[in-house]
Amino acid sequence: PYLLLVHGPNLNRLGVRKPETYGSQTLADVVQMVRDTAASYGYGVVDKQSNHEGELIDFLQSHGPNAHGIIINPGAFGHYSYALRDCLEDIDRPTIEVHISNVHRREAFRHHLVLSDVVRGQVVGLGTEGYRYATLALCQPRP
Ligand code: DQA
Repeated sequence: PYLLLVHGPNLNRLGVRKPETYGSQTLADVVQMVRDTAASYGYGVVDKQSNHEGELIDFLQSHGPNAHGIIINPGAFGHYSYALRDCLEDIDRPTIEVHISNVHRREAFRHHLVLSDVVRGQVVGLGTEGYRYATLALCQPRP
């Protein structure tokens, strides 16, 4: 059994881009942390980062239906990609959306999150540690 860990545009720059906003951990650090956390519950992780909307959708369509759950940081696509939203609705797997920064404290265009009604929950503003909480939310048996 595996989780999908999906990252949208510009997140390949994690650790380099605006460290005051996104922290100093790299994408590789985040992937490793999720891998280690998921492994302790017996789950593997299949991960993908892309700067291209269609590539993310292709990946989700291929690997999503058999995933135990999905962790996605859609980057800026989270604010306007109805295509990604429809894809997640179609796949219909438990999904946790992560935003490293607290998007609600930032520019107005970041306040709207179009995946909200198709995800199980969101972790926003807790830094890269948010991915750990998202992993636990999917791996731990639900009360
Ligand atoms: C982000 C927030 C988005 O608004 C931004 O476009 C990103 C990163 C976050 O993790 O805080 O690329 O998703």
